[in-house]
Amino acid sequence: MSRIAIEDVKILDSSDLGRGNYRLILGPFGRSRSIMAGQFVHLQVPGGSVFFRRAFSVYDVNPEEKTLEILFKVFGRGTALLAKCRRGDTVNLMGPLGHGFDPPGKKESVILAAGGIGMPPLYFLAKQMIQKKHESDKIHFFYGGNCRADLIEVARIKKLGVKLHLSTDDGSFGFKGFVTSGIKEYLENNKGDYRLYACGPTGMLKAIDRVAQERTIPGQLSLEAPMPCGIGVCLGCVLPLTSGGYTRVCREGPVYNIGEVLL
Ligand SMILES: Cc1cc2nc3c(=O)[nH]c(=O)nc-3n(C[C@H](O)[C@H](O)[C@H](O)COP(=O)(O)OP(=O)(O)OC[C@H]3O[C@@H](n4cnc5c(N)ncnc54)[C@H](O)[C@@H]3O)c2cc1C
Ligand code: FES
Repeated sequence: MSRIAIEDVKILDSSDLGRGNYRLILGPFGRSRSIMAGQFVHLQVPGGSVFFRRAFSVYDVNPEEKTLEILFKVFGRGTALLAKCRRGDTVNLMGPLGHGFDPPGKKESVILAAGGIGMPPLYFLAKQMIQKKHESDKIHFFYGGNCRADLIEVARIKKLGVKLHLSTDDGSFGFKGFVTSGIKEYLENNKGDYRLYACGPTGMLKAIDRVAQERTIPGQLSLEAPMPCGIGVCLGCVLPLTSGGYTRVCREGPVYNIGEVLL
């Protein structure tokens, strides 16, 4: 695991992406170069009224400028306050935290399954794979939301050159149905060996875990849990392991192998 830093960083840009989704560019952050896809940062919400830090997956980094980006959806008090932050505001950031994804072999065909605001770590994984010369047409990026407006940053994903498969639950854009249905249909029609990575709501991850285990597809899931401390001390984030015992999602996770955690 890379060394953790706690630094005050500036909000260099804040964009409202619609439907409660926001993008922040933060920096300078000394450890931006060492961040692996799947790792997260813990942000102190400015203003002092929110005690616990909030966890966000890293969406992208710019090592030259020492910046990182996060995407978030307003959920409760902390994210509502973060959405009100403006360019020039200061936020305290702790990171990078947790274990990122184990990257696939360069020649492997890969399925990335992103549900809603679970998209950022998978975009970052695809970008890091391409930087390491993974063939972009072997990367199948499945991205689903409730409706069209939930599918954010699509143009940026397209720029990676990956095979993009968009879906919406209400059929307002792309394949109509859940991400998992799109993946099952794809696997039926395109036999082969794949490695699968997923991030999204727990219901979706449960379904992906089952789909992958039934077809013995290897891969990893990025999980979420309440994360008061983020550094393995408070045990607020533990989840049961299928082999027995518990795991701290902030420390041993948030990325786990398919079938490793009891979802
Ligand atoms: C590894 C990881 C990566 C994530 N990445 C993203 C992302 O990229 N984008 C995104 O939109 N969301 C992401 N999330 C979810 C995001 O962290 C939550 O949406 C956010 O914490 C909600 O904060 P809130 O204040 O708006 O909501 P609230 O419901 O007010 O607070 C939620 C969190 O605050 C903490 N908390 C609040 N009260 C207590 C209490 N009494 N005791 C203990 N803990 C408390 C907990 O950590 C809880 O999970 C991620 C979560 C995790 C774990
Ligand atoms: S958040 Fe405290 S142990 Fe994981």
